[in-house]
Formats: sequence, C-alpha cells, structure tokens
Amino acid sequence: MSQNELLINLEGISFKYPEGPLVLDELDFKLERGNRIGLIAPNGSGKTTLFHIIMGLLKPLSGKLEIFGKPVREEKDFAAIRRRIGLLFQDADDQLFSPTVLEDVAFGPLNLGKSKNDAVQIARQTLDYLGLAGFEDRITFKLSGGEKRLVSLATVLAMEPEVLLLDEPMNGLDIETKAKLTEILGGLDLSYVLISHDFDFLAETADSIYTMADGKILLDEELHLHEHIHAHEHGVYPHQHMISSNDREYRKKGSSEWVSDRRQRKQDRRQRTQDRRQNLEDIRQQSDDGSQTTEVRGQRSESRKQNR
Ligand SMILES: Nc1ncnc2c1ncn2[C@@H]1O[C@H](COP(=O)(O)OP(=O)(O)OP(=O)(O)O)[C@@H](O)[C@H]1O
Ligand SMILES: [Mg+2]
Repeated sequence: MSQNELLINLEGISFKYPEGPLVLDELDFKLERGNRIGLIAPNGSGKTTLFHIIMGLLKPLSGKLEIFGKPVREEKDFAAIRRRIGLLFQDADDQLFSPTVLEDVAFGPLNLGKSKNDAVQIARQTLDYLGLAGFEDRITFKLSGGEKRLVSLATVLAMEPEVLLLDEPMNGLDIETKAKLTEILGGLDLSYVLISHDFDFLAETADSIYTMADGKILLDEELHLHEHIHAHEHGVYPHQHMISSNDREYRKKGSSEWVSDRRQRKQDRRQRTQDRRQNLEDIRQQSDDGSQTTEVRGQRSESRKQNR
C-alpha cells in the first residue's frame, strides 16, 4: 500500500441546485490515506453539497470523481463506496430513523451482512466507546440535540468505515462533550474530512485546514505546514483565541520541535491506520454488500426536505 494512496479525487466538479446559481465551480479536491482534513468556510459556500456529491446523493453537472482509485459515475459505483465511507449528516434528524438508539446503531452493521447478534454487539460496543452505554432503549426522536449528534456518530462508526466525512460534528455539543469528541477523533486511525466553524477544534483534530470560496477548495499552504500558529494571519474568520493545549506545547518547545512531534504522531497514526485497514479488509471479505445505509439515510434527508 502506498503512503500517498489517493482515496478521494475530485477534478473539475461543478454543481448547481435547480434554479439556483453554481454552488461548486470546477472544484478540485484530494484526500489521501491518513489525511485528516479540516474544512472551514462561510455558511452557504457548498461544504455540505460537496459531501453529498462525494457520497453520490447529489449528481454533479460535470467533472470527474474517483474514489478508492476507481471512477464513480452510476448508482452501483456509489453503492460500493458507501460501505467504506461514513457520512455524518449535518442534521441529525437526517441520520436517525429507527425507533430506538440500539436499532439505529445496529442498522448499519446489519446492512453490512452481520448477523443480528453481531450487529447488536457492535452497536453496544460503539455506544459504550462514545460514552452512551445505557442509551440503547432510548427513543431516538426524543433525544436532546447533543445526544442525537453523538448517536448519529455512533451509527457512522458502527459501520467501521475507512473514511469519515463529518459535517459539523461539534454542533450543539457542550464543552465537555466537545473535548471528549476531540479525544475520540485523535484516537481514530481513519482518514477524514471534518467540516466545522470552530477553528480551534480543527486545529486540534486536523493536519491540514482548507477553506472554500467561489465554489472551489482553497489550500492554505501556510496553514498546512504550521497549523494553528499562523491561524491569525491566514484564518478565514477573525476569532477569539483561547490558549489550547497545542499552543502551550508550542510555546514550551518552540516551533520546529513541535512540528516534528506532530510529524511523529502522524507517522504513528499511519501505522495504526494500516493495521485497522487490514482488520477492515478481513471484515469486508466476510460480509455481503452493505451499501444501503447511507442511501436510506440520504433518501430520508431528501424526503424530509420536500415535506418542509
Ligand atoms: N436542496 C437545496 N435546494 C436548493 N438550494 C440548496 C439546497 N441545499 C443547499 N442549497 C443552497 O446551496 C448553497 C450551498 O449550500 P450548502 O448546504 O452546501 O452550504 P454549507 O457550506 O454546507 O453551509 P452551512 O455552513 O450553512 O452548513 C447554499 O446557497 C444553499 O442555499
Ligand atoms: Mg452545511
């Protein structure tokens, strides 16, 4: 496996909603294995649209999509990749549809061909991992906003995806839960793209931070290299700066040592990613096509919009 294995490659993607202006305009985007990309951009700039295009929930007007090294054009192509990419919808009500929490979290693994017992076991473990033990029989639509957010994340993680697309995972979470989620993301050996309006969260959880403007992704090389340290000069929004653990570490050690520590951590994560990937390959070989989950949740999202 090459270290720079290209997982997602979008070239020249354009998209508009009916009767609207262009939302994505010849957009290029690449995600390599091991990448942890943060995406911060103003409301309405097309971040959610971009995720839905990657998952095949929206069809681009033009451009090329290659995912896991293969072109994806038709529904059957997307069906194959949806079992390997986990999408956390921006709106938890688009994600959750089963009566109880356990059923919702077990739905994905069941769709991946797991037996009922195994699916329930995976669901329980995932809930436990996210600090949601005891939520199994709770009614999903009666959960609080933050609880729905975490249960939504559980439905995604329970499918053991290789790539995560998380659309504003911090939305509605309290400070303690945000800290917990930051820690959880730090412990995951996955490639991911995180959309957030919280720069400090992205600085903690992403190795590169991108933005969007005029329907395109902009790569900020300075941010890419130096992360949070130059955020004030290159950040998209002016933001209040609270001292984060990274800043304290930086001030204590000086920039070059701090950056090299970050590199070492990245290398360690790559190794863990490789191990996890092997594990996933083994699981995948045992299971049938489990592509329906995102499709079902995506259809639910569309029909909810039409009913509004
Ligand atoms: N179903 C839809 N029909 C028509 N226009 C839409 C639809 N969904 C989104 N749009 C429009 O497309 C543009 C991009 O929306 P999108 O949801 O991708 O933005 P975003 O960057 O995710 O914003 P936010 O930060 O508010 O979540 C916006 O102008 C939005 O109004
Ligand atoms: Mg959005």
